[in-house]
Parts: sequence; structure tokens; C-alpha cells
Amino acid sequence: KTVAIVGCPFRGGQRKLGVDKGPIALVEAGLPDQIKELGWKVKFDGHHQFEEISAENDPPIGKLLNPRLVSKVCKAVSETVGDHIKNGELPLTLGGDHSLAMGTISGTLDRYPEACVVWVDAHADINTPETTGSGNIHGMPVAFLMGLGPTIPEFSWVKPRLSSSRIVYIGLRDLDAGEKRILKENKIKAFSMHEVDRWGIGRVVEMALDHVNPDRDRPIHLSFDVDALDPSVAPSTGTPVRGGLTFREGHYICEAVYETGCLIALDIMEVNPSLADTASINQTIAVGCSLARSALGETLL
Ligand code: ARG
Ligand code: MN
Ligand code: MN
Ligand code: MN
Repeated sequence: KTVAIVGCPFRGGQRKLGVDKGPIALVEAGLPDQIKELGWKVKFDGHHQFEEISAENDPPIGKLLNPRLVSKVCKAVSETVGDHIKNGELPLTLGGDHSLAMGTISGTLDRYPEACVVWVDAHADINTPETTGSGNIHGMPVAFLMGLGPTIPEFSWVKPRLSSSRIVYIGLRDLDAGEKRILKENKIKAFSMHEVDRWGIGRVVEMALDHVNPDRDRPIHLSFDVDALDPSVAPSTGTPVRGGLTFREGHYICEAVYETGCLIALDIMEVNPSLADTASINQTIAVGCSLARSALGETLL
């Protein structure tokens, strides 16, 4: 029973400064010891050192910003995550921006091709290089994992292995027009904040798991973007959207996934400890830590 913390100080999937400091802040806040107290062995070999590719050597490919850098970093992350899973460890990847999930989920699928993904986010992150408005690759990892959009040689290592029936979203509320079309065309199951309001988080998580994991026998990769939470709960993140999950709703998702016994990989993404005032920053770091603990078995009683 070992958690391997994969610190990924990376911001190349978007334009704002500071999200690369997220993993450092989460570890400094004591996350490794907190996880040990839950009864896990914790392996933390320091934060990933990513070789830089300078901007002049990485011009946009179409609209894609920092394409070679993002690709290289995600490939390294996929190998690290895959190795931890192979060693029987549960990788906890700390972002960093959400483009990293291209790497983490690729690493999971290398070892568990039958795995399913629970993606908790305000955004669907399923733009293709053609539908993206921003060019920010953190808005595209799911499209790459599913093999949607044009083939880009620089990303040829990403195997299009995630099938539309093996991913479910919770918390959505800010989709681009192209993303809405992609979700419909591919019949991807999504529980937006509207469904959370209608059914309550308990039913939503049950329905979400019934969809991707009906017999609760498939490995689950939980990819949690802290901007799924309402900005009053997690203010320090690059793309906050009002009307999000409450503190309890976010933690409930993590607790319910833990209770399945199927969790094999976890991402905590988009904590940006340089946006907002000190109190908001500390609040967001604390929430990042407590989400991770809930997914790793912390209970209220
Ligand atoms: N849909 C927008 C875009 O493509 C926002 C994506 C936000 N993604 C995130 N991981 N915070 O740029
Ligand atoms: Mn998001
Ligand atoms: Mn938007
Ligand atoms: Mn995201």
C-alpha cells in the first residue's frame, strides 16, 4: 500500500505564471505526511525536473502553444506514472496544469488498458487543435487521449486508447461550442452542475460510476481539476468559473471513488499559488491536500 507522489511543476499547457508552483506548495503544506497518517507508505523522490525547450525552439504548431514542450513533458510523466503502477504503487500526480493528464492517463492506460477515467472539472478539456480558441493545451488533453482531431507528429507517442465510454465528467459548466458538439457526437457521459443541482452529488457519483464502471471492477483514474470547485472554495486557479462544486461535493466525489476500492491513479491539478491573496492561496492549497486525502481513504468518522 504505497502512494508515489509525482510532483509536476509545469505550466506550459497554458499562459499564466504560477501553476508550476502548485506541487511545491502542496508538498510544503505537508501532504506526504498527511497521507502517511492515513496508513500509506509514501514515496516522494522530489519534483520532476523538466528539461526546458526554449520558446524560440518551440513555435506554435497551428494554434497549439508550446507543443513540443508539452509533448515532451507529458511523455516523461506517462513513463513515470506507468512505472509506479507497474511497481504496484498508486501514483498521485500533483500539477501543474491539466495538460499533464495527457501523460498521467497515458501512463495508466499503458498498464491498465481497461481503466476508466473520472474527470472532475469546470471544463471538458476536450478541444482539438482545430476547435481550440486559446491554443492552450490544458484545454485539450482528453481530445488527444481519445484520438480526436488531426494527427500531429510531435504527439505521435500519445496512443488514442481512451474510448468515449470509459470517461465520465462531473462538475462541467464552461464548455466551448466545439466541445459541446464533441461531447454529443461521441456520446460522452457528462454530469454538469445542472445535473449536480438536480440529482444531488450522491446520485450523480453513483450514476457516473455506473456508466464507466458498472460492476465496480475496472481500475479508476481520478483526474481532479481544482477549478471544478466553486471559486469561493478554491480561488487560486487559472480559469475559475462561478457556480461550482461545494467543498463537500468535491470531497464526496473523492470519498466515493475511494470506497469503490478501484482507484489506481490520482491527479490533483491546476492549484496556482500565485493567484489571489494569501488567505485564498492557503485555502486552495489546503483544499488540494484534503481532496487528495479523501481520495486516499480519509473519512469523517
Ligand atoms: N476551454 C478553454 C480552453 O480551451 C479553457 C480550458 C481550461 N482548462 C483547464 N484545464 N483549466 O482554453
Ligand atoms: Mn478546469
Ligand atoms: Mn471558456
Ligand atoms: Mn482541467
